[in-house]
Amino acid sequence: MSQKRDLTARKLFFKYYDGALENNLNVTLEGWIKSHRNNGSVGFIEFNDGSYFKNIQLVYDKENANFAKISKAKYGSSIEINGVVRLTPEMKQPFEIQLTDLRVLGDCAEDYPLQKKRHTFEFLRDIAYLRPRANTFNAVYRVRNACAYAIHKFFQERGFIYVHTPEITSNDAEGAGQVFHVVNDFKHPNDFFNSSACLTVSGQLHAEAFALAFRDVYTFGPTFRAENSNTNRHASEFWMIEPEIAFADLDDNMDLIESFLKYVIKYVLDNCKDEMEFFNNFIDKGVIEKLNNVINSEFVRMDYTKAVELLKKAAEAGHKFENPDIYWGTDLMSEHERYITEEIVKGPVFLINYPKEIKAFYMKLNPDNKTVAACDLLVPKEGEIVGGSQREEDYDKLFAKMKEIGNDKGLEWYLNLRKYGGCIHSGFGLGFDRLLMYITGMQNIRDVQPFPRCPGSLKY
Ligand code: 4AD
Ligand code: MG
Repeated sequence: MSQKRDLTARKLFFKYYDGALENNLNVTLEGWIKSHRNNGSVGFIEFNDGSYFKNIQLVYDKENANFAKISKAKYGSSIEINGVVRLTPEMKQPFEIQLTDLRVLGDCAEDYPLQKKRHTFEFLRDIAYLRPRANTFNAVYRVRNACAYAIHKFFQERGFIYVHTPEITSNDAEGAGQVFHVVNDFKHPNDFFNSSACLTVSGQLHAEAFALAFRDVYTFGPTFRAENSNTNRHASEFWMIEPEIAFADLDDNMDLIESFLKYVIKYVLDNCKDEMEFFNNFIDKGVIEKLNNVINSEFVRMDYTKAVELLKKAAEAGHKFENPDIYWGTDLMSEHERYITEEIVKGPVFLINYPKEIKAFYMKLNPDNKTVAACDLLVPKEGEIVGGSQREEDYDKLFAKMKEIGNDKGLEWYLNLRKYGGCIHSGFGLGFDRLLMYITGMQNIRDVQPFPRCPGSLKY
């Protein structure tokens, strides 16, 4: 690596925070111009090299022999600069760089779509290849990165094995029929694999096989759903974290979800201070306080049956639901979930023990024969971010259920896990992109994903 590439804005900031950044230090940096103003005698450039969220201010004045040349450098261009660090403890930014020279490496054309003004998120979505340079998205993708790291860190510190479950599969793990089919140029679509093939909707079934060998495992990767729902919370491709734990029941599962979420949130608050301050100031006022409350409170656990009672009471007391027909057995709508978490609990809540008819085939039937040991975690504004359950470990019950819904072909191996040394086990799926919405306060899933794929849009 060249000496030059070795220095970054990140290193300078870290040095500063360590109290080790010297005044008058000579530096060379490469990066981009985020803004440039010049009043004829002094000039200011907001500079960012991508290594750190905050910009560095570059200053130059008439005394500088290169004044005219530097003045011409345009907003958006990539540059190499030489300069001297000036500590500025009395200013908003802790240090600036007094320029000695600036060289334009890549000019930026006048028709640059990312102008220096405030753009709408819709517009920025349309220029998804440029939006990582916009402040908000710079913060979003940094937090996305930190979150992904924290997720691995949490599981690795606890001895979980990371398993890469397949993306191409022959089963619809959820049995909900929302799969994308994988086709090819063979005469018959099934010729390639000798079986029909689709993109995975969940790695759970394969993760179960690994949990029954390694005890505690997790997957973390992309999943695909052909749901034709054009909401701000649904994407056709999204990332999911799916842990699976052996010798664990529903309570163990919820304990894991809760400690896991708190860990990841705390990691982001501790390690993305500048980004989180940005979200708190410009995107979602109070988001930091909200997250601190989440870390410091115990998540409520509530039976589905209880939730239905409370919703009915609310409707009777005059609360206007768009779907007022609430009865035991109904699949709760997003507005119902939000009422529970926003109005009743005012924080995260686990809804547990759902009617078996509205949940996936693999969930453990409770002794009442009516409900299954499921747990959905609901949070204010978004509703469900986690779906989990204890798995049915009884071969006969699972087989009967799979036959009943016609999902028994091709999943013999999954059933056999109950036959060859099975045990009680549980797991959950956390929508990574929904978690990011929750942490950043961004309101559209399209604005926390790098290149979103949603019904009707596959640009980039
Ligand atoms: O509730 P879901 O469908 O559960 C499963 O797939 C289980 N197999 C998980 C498991 O137990 N291993 O999905 C889990 C989570 C949801 O709570 C939600 O956060 C997210 O995945 N999710 C989506 N996120 C974005 N766009 C979509 N279309 C999503 N569908 C589900
Ligand atoms: Mg779900």
